[in-house]
Amino acid sequence: MEHHSNIVPWQMLCERTGAILKVIPMNKEGELVMEEYAELLSDKTKLVFCNHVSNALGTINPIAEIIKKAHGVGAAVLIDGAQAAPHIVADVQALDVDFYTCSAHKMCGPTGVGILYGKEEWLKKLPPYQGGGEMIVEVTFEKTTYADLPHKFEAGTPNICGGIAFGAALDYMHQIGFKDIAGYEAELLDYATQELLKIEGLKIYGTAKNKTSVISFNIEGIHPYDIGTILG
Ligand SMILES: Cc1ncc(COP(=O)(O)O)c(C=O)c1O
Repeated sequence: MEHHSNIVPWQMLCERTGAILKVIPMNKEGELVMEEYAELLSDKTKLVFCNHVSNALGTINPIAEIIKKAHGVGAAVLIDGAQAAPHIVADVQALDVDFYTCSAHKMCGPTGVGILYGKEEWLKKLPPYQGGGEMIVEVTFEKTTYADLPHKFEAGTPNICGGIAFGAALDYMHQIGFKDIAGYEAELLDYATQELLKIEGLKIYGTAKNKTSVISFNIEGIHPYDIGTILG
């Protein structure tokens, strides 16, 4: 269900700090098993993370409930919104999520640029993860003072072109309207699912009750690479 980008960094963090990574199981439909999630939480849990929508299965995760339960044990929550952002508008303040991330390339924008939303209290507490120009107030050989948010996290000459292009992509999506996009995609998803299931030997992976327009499938006896190449 998770993209590597929401697994690998946490494994690296575990190696560095000795933290333990625990995985919420999912059922055959491709939904998180919420009862098991509740059992995994304890006062030792520091951070809970998952995607809002799975790029592999299309599952929409019940993030409001996930966030509420995590906060109940004092854990922070990071939601990977890369696959969700083009399909669902997440109200980060109503959700009370601590961190929410999106990638521009999933929203008609360029590669190598994205969004990190974080609660101000967290971003103030976190140290810069890179050092360089632009992110400082004052530098001497003895000591550096960092600039205010968000510049503290923007070391070096930024990806200016990427930022402008992402802005244009978001304006374009807003012009069409996120509600209309979601409605049209839901129609396509229903139609495609219905038609695909008419193909003999076709099995869809990811049949969550709550899903967006992603369909993963296999056709018995045909290598997925061949199908992918032909359809591509
Ligand atoms: C759910 C999800 N998370 C993360 C990513 C990776 O984003 P990036 O390559 O911008 O880090 C993707 C796909 O690109 C994705 O679908």
